[in-house]
Amino acid sequence: MDTRIGIIGGSGLYQIEGLADAEWVGVDTPWGHASDKILTGTLDGVPMAFLPRHGRGHVHSPSTVPYRANIDALKRLGVTDIFSVSACGSFREDLAPGDFVIVDQFIDRTVGRESSFFGTGCVAHVSVAHPTCPRLGDAAFAAAKAQGVTVHRGGTYLAMEGPQFSSAAESKMYRDAWGADVIGMTNMPEAKLAREAEICYASVAMITDYDSWHPDHGSVDISDILAILGGNADAARGLVARLPGLLGADRAPCPHGCDRALEFALMTAPDH
Ligand code: ADE
Repeated sequence: MDTRIGIIGGSGLYQIEGLADAEWVGVDTPWGHASDKILTGTLDGVPMAFLPRHGRGHVHSPSTVPYRANIDALKRLGVTDIFSVSACGSFREDLAPGDFVIVDQFIDRTVGRESSFFGTGCVAHVSVAHPTCPRLGDAAFAAAKAQGVTVHRGGTYLAMEGPQFSSAAESKMYRDAWGADVIGMTNMPEAKLAREAEICYASVAMITDYDSWHPDHGSVDISDILAILGGNADAARGLVARLPGLLGADRAPCPHGCDRALEFALMTAPDH
């Protein structure tokens, strides 16, 4: 099977560079329109597909991102491996603004987002006990290291609904009682849907702030976030550019089974 790498870019990453045969393509899905057209092309001989999560011009808030259409559109383009890139706040002193975290766990506190392809007619329960793919996580970690980024392998991402940032009381609870490492608004239900679509998924979270728990830092300041994201943009693009070389064009079945998730799922047959 051939690799096709999907990149879902968050705030600060609206393009990837250096693609051969680059073309923005629209993809119809039964779940509506994706956030934007998808930039397809080839990098180092590996097919790529890039989707700006919020759309060019940042038109979708975390709550209105069409997560199902996005994952389905990437699936229809043959994407086998997704790297999600997003901004996040940090709950740990040693996870500093400017650092990257290769997330490996999630606590999902989003509400009111469509979070499954299954429901009416065909019910399926897939496992998301290990929601990210270690193979892709290794590649993202290696790419970040080679790029000279301070990067941490592993971390629990608290996915909140937003769009407001957390209160100080919530921030302390997520950190002290729940053991979360970072917080963001977009990786859920994206990661769950990728698993249902049998696409390997890794999350590269770029730390922009200390949320609101830190005694020496005030509340989240959007201008600080934008400054860090601006400073990180080159590193994020450089990381992405290294991924094709690390994964290669030929793809063996995922050793962790992400690409066969429905084989292990509890399913009922469609009623029609
Ligand atoms: N994205 C960047 N910083 C964040 C924070 N502190 N909370 C939620 N999402 C974020």
